[in-house]
Amino acid sequence: MVPTIQWYGKYIRMVDQRKIPSGIRWHFCRRYRDVIRAIRNMVIRGAPAIGIAASMGLALGASSIRTVSVAVFRKRFGEMADEMLNARPTAVNLKWAVDRMSAMVDKMADSPVDTIKSALKQVSIDILAEDIECNRRIGKNGLSLIPRGATILTHCNAGSLATGGYGTALGVIRAAHENEKDIRVIADETRPWLQGIRLTAFELMEDGIPVSVIVDSAAGYLMRQKKIDLVITGADRIAANGDTANKIGTYQLAVLANANKIPFYIAAPLSTVDHALENGDMIPVEERSGEEVLRFGKKNIGPSGLKALNPSFDITPARYISAVITEKGVIRPPLRRGISRLLKA
Ligand code: MRU
Repeated sequence: MVPTIQWYGKYIRMVDQRKIPSGIRWHFCRRYRDVIRAIRNMVIRGAPAIGIAASMGLALGASSIRTVSVAVFRKRFGEMADEMLNARPTAVNLKWAVDRMSAMVDKMADSPVDTIKSALKQVSIDILAEDIECNRRIGKNGLSLIPRGATILTHCNAGSLATGGYGTALGVIRAAHENEKDIRVIADETRPWLQGIRLTAFELMEDGIPVSVIVDSAAGYLMRQKKIDLVITGADRIAANGDTANKIGTYQLAVLANANKIPFYIAAPLSTVDHALENGDMIPVEERSGEEVLRFGKKNIGPSGLKALNPSFDITPARYISAVITEKGVIRPPLRRGISRLLKA
């Protein structure tokens, strides 16, 4: 798999995910605002990948600040960080990355500006490397939950493309495949951006993991037919009580899995936990343009003048989640207690 995002000399390059599977096209960012636009316009998407992009974008922005005054540098950096925070609202990884970069600037307040700039670039490189390592651990930790021969349903794309590499939900699937568990994947197509049919299917086929796609509304029928053994998805934000935001459609899968007595797992790094939020009702849910729903490719498919609602994420209550698979271990219900214990570990 090509790297989702990387430094390319002084600039950043990322795979343009809107073009997959037609081809791998690089999208170059030369200014921090190019990165903000790329996040907003879905060139790069997926919670951990957005966090990595935000950290690199801020390092890029910092490198363009022309001053030797640390006070001036910090003021301008703070403005850039605020702009970056508004790129997309739901994935907490973006805020996590911006906070980590801002903490580094605060910590180095007595250093020369050039030293701070180099340190920021290094932090963004570390965030990328740590994410890949974290996903490998998530994969390993999730292995015991995957029975041999299992058929696994996943939603959206929580793979290499949504992260620094390897993936979270797809990390567990990859680990199971590497351990010869003889698994098979069913990918929801994931309207309206079709991350399932375009990105998840692409990644799994590249790795030789058997995958079929279904329309989003087929999941319940297949569960009732006993054709799905478990569900794994990623997460964009997990509240302190375990309520989880993920791609729109995840909630109904969790309810259906529960009704059909199928385990429903979330795979995510602990950086996805927002312990400042007591429960999922407090998670901001992005509402994207209705145009994304009304169009298929470039073609308008509804009657002219039709309006669409387009919430991009939903919240799955903790009670429907059988376990959260993290880099530090598997959290079983009650999730609140397990999350708090692992955050302290
Ligand atoms: O709108 P997207 O494509 O950014 O939504 C992505 C998802 O919902 C993923 O499932 C989530 O970010 C987890 S990615 C490891």
